[in-house]
Amino acid sequence: MKVLVIGPGGREHAIVRALAADPYVEEVHCAPGNAGIARDVPVHPIDAQDPEAVVALARELASELVVVGPEAPLAAGVADALIAAGIPVFGPTRAAAQLEASKAFAKEIMAEAEVPTAMARVATNTEEAAAALDAFGAPHVVKDDGLAAGKGVVVTNDRAEALAHAELCFEAGGTVVIEEFLDGPEVSLFVICDGKHAVPLSPAQDFKRIFDNDQGPNTGGMGAYSPLPWLPEGFTEQVMERVAYPTLREMEKRGTPFTGVLYCGLAITRRGIRVIEFNARFGDPETQAVLARLKTPLGSLLLAAAKGELDDAEQLHWHPQTAVDVVIAAENYPDAPVKGATIQGLDEANAIENVHVAHAGTATDAEGNITVAGGRVLAVVALGDDLAAARRAAYEGVAKISWPGAQSRSDIGLKAERGEIVVNQESN
Ligand code: AMP
Ligand code: GLY
Repeated sequence: MKVLVIGPGGREHAIVRALAADPYVEEVHCAPGNAGIARDVPVHPIDAQDPEAVVALARELASELVVVGPEAPLAAGVADALIAAGIPVFGPTRAAAQLEASKAFAKEIMAEAEVPTAMARVATNTEEAAAALDAFGAPHVVKDDGLAAGKGVVVTNDRAEALAHAELCFEAGGTVVIEEFLDGPEVSLFVICDGKHAVPLSPAQDFKRIFDNDQGPNTGGMGAYSPLPWLPEGFTEQVMERVAYPTLREMEKRGTPFTGVLYCGLAITRRGIRVIEFNARFGDPETQAVLARLKTPLGSLLLAAAKGELDDAEQLHWHPQTAVDVVIAAENYPDAPVKGATIQGLDEANAIENVHVAHAGTATDAEGNITVAGGRVLAVVALGDDLAAARRAAYEGVAKISWPGAQSRSDIGLKAERGEIVVNQESN
């Protein structure tokens, strides 16, 4: 099978690697990719958000499956164009991708499908926002309604800061969703869907804030690990039953069946599992950890989903090790990142046993050096016999890599390693 992967980031590098390891996949291409992906497979410099350009490339390459990584091409209708051209695509249509592209739409679907989530109100002006903040109380959660690459959410005890974020969104012509605060550990569960049937991947945990101890602003994600040794028995089954299947049924009922990854961002609160958000794609950087453990050939799984032929009884096979990945971000990320620096130490990091480096925002300069070209630049991925060993290997890799202003968290997976994550569930 010939597969084309769409997207530029670390998630796509992980997908490309997993597909290349699939014995049924003979050719992998990526567009636009990045400097690291270009070392592994052919890359094509197209505008990934232009549906016609993606269709033209898939035709030229005789792709038998297109896997769309990021949300922006999905929201731009890339999957719709591929479907219209008769090319199997893993990723939802524009209408189904609204589950991620509009938080208000996601709330409506959850309400209809009785999926447990935070209480929320949509606000379109300052008065409504202020009233909603006061109704829920602190900590305040204010979300830009549209796509914001993980950075449109402010969680704060400071009412003035919460209101200021809402006003910024209004000034930009948007609306906001204001929510009750969900207290409890977070889990990312990726569910592979074919419109009707669904198969869960192994749960992961992501670290959203830029600094150690969950301090500083939200980012796209600074690291992840999988599996989660502290999860209660039956967790995944419960999410499938209470979240994934009801959502799939509701989307199908509306005539917009969901094909692709239903990314369930969950909080385990005292009162049970709650959905924090849906995304319509694999998470980044969780995918780098999750796919590092997947033994089942990825290409056949995604093709079955694309064709509506998923077997929801399928048992996926996993390496027994734990995977950890640590993101190294550019200076000044998540604000405007400083680009252009040459990255040192990539070969040394890749040479460590059970460690590899997934590229995100990287480019190659005229001399052939790999340089910083985005906010999140790399993810150092490691496998280990347990979380402690995986963390040790990942941080050994991180220590090899440098450029001026490089930032990474030192505590990815640390609380779990120390057994400090407590799941407190009174009832469901
Ligand atoms: P989102 O883009 O909706 O995933 O939000 C980004 C991050 O903000 C989440 O991963 C959580 O850490 C935090 N967050 C979002 N909504 C809530 C909520 N209702 N309660 C607590 N934290 C939240
Ligand atoms: N890691 C969070 C996301 O992909 O949205």
